[in-house]
Amino acid sequence: MPSLNDIRSTFLDYFARNDHQVVESSPLVPRNDPTLMFVNSGMVQFKNVFTGVEHRDYKRAVTSQKCVRAGGKHNDLDNVGYTARHHTFFEMLGNFSFGDYFKEAAIPFAWELLTREYGISKDRLLVTVYHTDDEAAAIWKKVAGLPDDRIIRIPTNDNFWMMGPTGPCGPCTEIFYDHGDHIPGGPPGSPDEDGDRFIEIWNLVFMQFEQFEDGARKDLAAQSIDTGMGLERIGALLQGKHDNYDTDLMRALIEASANATSADPDGPGRIHHRVIADHLRSTAFLIADGVMPSNEGRGYVLRRIMRRAMRHAHQLGADEPLMYRLVHALVRKMGGHYPELVRAEALVTETLKLEETRFRQTLDRGLRLLDDELARLPDGATLPGDAAFRLYDTYGFPLDLTQDALREKGRAVDVAGFEAAMAEQKAKARAAWAGSGETKEAAIWFDLAEKHGATEFLGYDTDSAEGQVLALVRDGAAIKRAEAGESVQIIVNQTPFYGEAGGQVGDTGTIRTEHGQARVTDTLRAQGLFIHVAEVTEGHITLGAAAELAVDRDRRARIKANHSATHLLHEALRQALGDHVAQRGSLNAPDRLRFDFSHGAPLSAAERAAVQQEVNAYIRQNAPVVTRIMTPDDARGVGAQALFGEKYGDEVRVVSMGRAPGSGKGLDKATYSIELCGGTHVRRTGEIGAMVIVADQASSAGVRRIEALTGQAAIDWLEAQAEQLHGLMGQLKSPTFEDAQKKLSALQAENRALQNELAQLRRELAMGGGGAASGPESRDLGGVKFLAQVLKGVTGKELPGLIDEAKARLGSGAVLLVADAGGKAAVAAGVTADLTERLSAVDMVRAAAAELGGKGGGGRPDMAQAGGSDPSRADAAIAAVEKLIGG
Ligand code: SER
Repeated sequence: MPSLNDIRSTFLDYFARNDHQVVESSPLVPRNDPTLMFVNSGMVQFKNVFTGVEHRDYKRAVTSQKCVRAGGKHNDLDNVGYTARHHTFFEMLGNFSFGDYFKEAAIPFAWELLTREYGISKDRLLVTVYHTDDEAAAIWKKVAGLPDDRIIRIPTNDNFWMMGPTGPCGPCTEIFYDHGDHIPGGPPGSPDEDGDRFIEIWNLVFMQFEQFEDGARKDLAAQSIDTGMGLERIGALLQGKHDNYDTDLMRALIEASANATSADPDGPGRIHHRVIADHLRSTAFLIADGVMPSNEGRGYVLRRIMRRAMRHAHQLGADEPLMYRLVHALVRKMGGHYPELVRAEALVTETLKLEETRFRQTLDRGLRLLDDELARLPDGATLPGDAAFRLYDTYGFPLDLTQDALREKGRAVDVAGFEAAMAEQKAKARAAWAGSGETKEAAIWFDLAEKHGATEFLGYDTDSAEGQVLALVRDGAAIKRAEAGESVQIIVNQTPFYGEAGGQVGDTGTIRTEHGQARVTDTLRAQGLFIHVAEVTEGHITLGAAAELAVDRDRRARIKANHSATHLLHEALRQALGDHVAQRGSLNAPDRLRFDFSHGAPLSAAERAAVQQEVNAYIRQNAPVVTRIMTPDDARGVGAQALFGEKYGDEVRVVSMGRAPGSGKGLDKATYSIELCGGTHVRRTGEIGAMVIVADQASSAGVRRIEALTGQAAIDWLEAQAEQLHGLMGQLKSPTFEDAQKKLSALQAENRALQNELAQLRRELAMGGGGAASGPESRDLGGVKFLAQVLKGVTGKELPGLIDEAKARLGSGAVLLVADAGGKAAVAAGVTADLTERLSAVDMVRAAAAELGGKGGGGRPDMAQAGGSDPSRADAAIAAVEKLIGG
């Protein structure tokens, strides 16, 4: 019996042999459709190829596309587990032609694959065509030889396939399998077509038109083919089963669930096992594609699926978290074809375990409350909306979980009442907010957030995506349209632009719509909204338009490198300086990074070198950067660095990088850096390229600030340094650095010697030039030899040395020197030791300073100094001192 993996391979191989390019499944989160929650059919990734906007270098393709139908328009969640063919996650096999072959080849391909490769009996097959499509009917007749009553013409939209309200579309033909008359049901188009006897297995769409918003339908430039066949369905058929959940793949998961709970896979818990098997697949694939459980948008759909599965596990009597234990069984079955599942196994396991552990805490209590409520109600009555809301608000029960629980009891929820209770709570939040003193300007963001919910950030995984313009704001007011040249703030439902937060600057880039383009100069956040600060550069941007959002990729790459390097730097500083190092602030800009941390002193040269070397060693390690969602307590438990004093929510993003076996953090004690962080990061540390510290300054008391560069900027900086050094060596005419060092030392020594010589010469010149013996004569004032002189071109600093020399020449006596520095005077006096009893140098300078326009003066009895402002009064100063000595 072929396994589902074999059946998938047969399909891909068949079309590959027929010149189709095997294209990988696109991720479940669509990048090219603003309105679609999840990829829900194989053609989504080719949407723009059909309309001619995008070109690929192949014209035929074949895929096995991951699909989720659990939110938005196609939502199968409610039925999963209870029916034979509903799934939240499924694989769609499809072959595509982009302006290459059309109906004439698509039909024979399908027929040959089904009847020859898969060996399905022709007698079991019948088809439908759109009622006006004579061409398709004729081809079926010719190729398959089907009688007219097995080529059924259908006049309804069932045979006209549209992706959505807009986009490529066309008539289709569907292939059905007849399970035989032992199963009730009629052929398609008959009154009892909904029975289970005739099952649609493959849909071939003849893509021919493009549908526009205004209702117009235009011919596509090229007629194309889009086909879709659910692997689970064709698998069941080829394995002789009627129920998709009886295929080898689904059965393996059901058995894993049965083993883990010791509950019979086919017993009373049958439905629970089926729900668990299905939800395990959607959960694992969504997480592998970057969706994380949250309370908004896609993350909330994921959370609803997870919690719904957890309630079913609870019904099976599982006391401990269960889902996470089943992940490995899934990876074993599907990891061969989807390597992303293997890569994400640890992340999926951890995320499930965390969600299960936390939800278990309220699940029991919530279910008890539900039972109490039901006991109070008359038999069969619907559950009041406010009770369902309490379960939602207090116990974290998504509405569909409550509905699912009631379904087993044949009851329903008053959904209108639930919504009323939700609206009332929002009104209360609004009233509380209005009283919180926020500015008027902020009110618009509150209103918009309330109306549209938080913006979904796609930028962890992509730098371009489509979004829908939900609001345009100018000067604090909502507008409908912004023209070229206008500044406007743009809100979309989902964006790859990072809104400034946690030190990482906002992204820049472009937003393009059908009728215009805007340049985004910054992205900010308020109330969960991402605000694109933009200027319309061409045409106009209107409310509701579909927009292509493209982040400036190169700038973002540099920001990412700087942000990841900051984490490595933080850890390296802790290693080099000690555990007191804690982050105090940071900036992750495209051109540099800045990191403030608690530490009292500049880094020594050795510390700086050690830090820089360690960071660069981890960059070269090129280890993957891993992101997880955890509770703040668990994050601290694994040693994650958190910002001191920061308030964190129930869940935090934890970013880890670097392998440090034996000495690291984390459960494995082998992770180098673990931080709480909402920013964007490189995938592997090697992308940082290199890091160099360019500044180390004090930022405030006890806080240092380091600036560093990474990647090309680091290399440019190092090159500039080297160039400057070479410039200096050139000036010194040194061929080597050692030679330059030697020459510089020699120059410094020579300079010192010259300065000494110069000082000596100036002193001699000042004192009358020539030899030590010459100089002005002293006079006798009442038995004291007194020498006085006015010196030009001498500074006050030089006076004490000159006083000493003069005193030595006199042997016994007093000296007064006045330095005339043009506009400023300095005066110094000296008295030889034998006379200091009679005469004080301090008194002398005071007397002199009084004349020179100065004040005070100080020193010792044998040497004192003072200043003044009027050197022209030098003679008067000398006279005053003569008078002092002469008595
Ligand atoms: N787009 C069509 C479908 O989803 C065929 O792939 O059925």
